[in-house]
Amino acid sequence: MTNLIWTRDYDELSQLTAECMYRTVTQNPNAVLVLATGGSPQLAYRLFCKKIIRDGIDLSGVTFVKLDEWLGLSTTDEATCEVFLRRELLDPLDICENQFLHFDPEAPDAQAECERFQAAFDALPQVDLVILGIGKNGHLGLNEPGESLSSNTHIIPLSPKTKTHEMLTHTSSQVTHGITMGMADLFRGKEILLLATGAEKTHLLPLLTDRQITTFVPFTLLKLHPNCNCIIDRSSFDVSRSNEDL
Ligand code: PGA
Repeated sequence: MTNLIWTRDYDELSQLTAECMYRTVTQNPNAVLVLATGGSPQLAYRLFCKKIIRDGIDLSGVTFVKLDEWLGLSTTDEATCEVFLRRELLDPLDICENQFLHFDPEAPDAQAECERFQAAFDALPQVDLVILGIGKNGHLGLNEPGESLSSNTHIIPLSPKTKTHEMLTHTSSQVTHGITMGMADLFRGKEILLLATGAEKTHLLPLLTDRQITTFVPFTLLKLHPNCNCIIDRSSFDVSRSNEDL
């Protein structure tokens, strides 16, 4: 990790994230941003929208990319990353369809959907900022822990831990697989922001600060990226317990 940034609380983590997003789109009107969903970036997206609207920033050249998705849900299912991103960011900012690169969770042929997405992603001239959260099992996007990780967009069976994700409590459908950008795709980001927040991730804290890299804890691979900043919400972690459960 290039930098560990310790913040007081979730508000400060979100402020810093929103500022970084704001800087990215104001410095480059054609910026490309890859966006995680979930609790970690939610407030940051709301703060970003407020700043953009307040300052009347033109985002018509910016491209937003959806990092991952639960497979098999209807596009309008409340649990999808699609609905999350539209509600928290795209709709408030009036982003046009052609500025949003995303997977269709309902695609009849999921493998073909991976290939379509990958070709469109590869055609982007550059990727300026990648916003990521950490999964309770250390996953990144839906790159789940395992003996190996994939470099590009792929379909992946969800780990038992991931199946308990808070977002999935909003659907009655059983979700068994996800679709996610791969590690090489994430490493295209000129800058990566990794957001670390949530008491259930306390056991992962030592792996943020030590030098270990393992595919069994996918976020540790970000230690190899030359410009990855990890923003840590100190208040959400019980630091005295962080050496347990490893
Ligand atoms: P969260 O999810 O931001 O809701 O904690 C992160 C993840 O599971 O990748």
